[in-house]
Amino acid sequence: MVPILLPLQELRLHWAKKLTLSEKNPYPLAPSDLVKMGLVTAENYLAQNLLFGQFCTSTMERELLQLSAEPGFANAHKEVQVIGAGLARDLYWLQKAAELGMTLTVRDVSGVACANARMLGERLGIDSQMECLEGEFENGWAQSEETPLVTYASQFIQVQSIRKMRRIMKCFGSLLRTPEDEPRRRLYLVHPLPEDNDTPRSWNNIQLPAPKWGDSLLYKAEDCLKYARCGLNGNVELDILGKHDYFHQKYSFLRLMPGK
Ligand SMILES: C[S@@+](CC[C@H](N)C(=O)[O-])C[C@H]1O[C@@H](n2cnc3c(N)ncnc32)[C@H](O)[C@@H]1O
Repeated sequence: MVPILLPLQELRLHWAKKLTLSEKNPYPLAPSDLVKMGLVTAENYLAQNLLFGQFCTSTMERELLQLSAEPGFANAHKEVQVIGAGLARDLYWLQKAAELGMTLTVRDVSGVACANARMLGERLGIDSQMECLEGEFENGWAQSEETPLVTYASQFIQVQSIRKMRRIMKCFGSLLRTPEDEPRRRLYLVHPLPEDNDTPRSWNNIQLPAPKWGDSLLYKAEDCLKYARCGLNGNVELDILGKHDYFHQKYSFLRLMPGK
């Protein structure tokens, strides 16, 4: 008899396979088109993951320093929420957040991702300030009065179906509601924009066609913004803080905040 898996179990299994190194998956989360072409090696995989992590960490550290200098920071609800930890290769900035006295919550549907985040927390010596919650984002969604000061979701929106992305962006938008006298809430998305990934390119001195994505969907920044505005029921500002090439894919670092 073939077991029938509930959607949540299916999602967990899907991510356990994608995040776990195996003979069939020697380079977890590397671009599947380059893996098929035989262009990903142990050396370039390691180097690209490191550079991706450094890009996210330097951007977030800069942001956290600016945020901590804002009036109202000392008395604010200083929570950082990470949605979708994956390999936890881009979360080294959590150390800076912990140094600034922030509490850290990581939510991921996958036990493998939560284990990766816990391992990183222990390595950085910040595990006592960090809570890992294993669960699906929408299932765990409950609007609380105290919204996290910072929400970070990297390579997360792109792995959601269009309907789910719309619902999640509305939830994210409502997280931007800011109590009086506190710094504006921030949502950071690391996301590949369609206009940056639709032409042939050169990588490692090799001419390649435009990236072919596995199960990622390249949503436009305007679409993310539209649903975030709807969730906040107010204006949201979007800034692109930087761009980074991961192999031949281009990622943008987006910051969304309530409009002034
Ligand atoms: C592409 S990975 C993120 C990779 C991460 N940025 C990194 O660099 O290692 C996406 C993560 O989101 C999690 N995820 C996907 N959909 C989710 C959902 N609906 N609720 C909670 N977690 C989800 C997956 O388990 C996975 O760990």
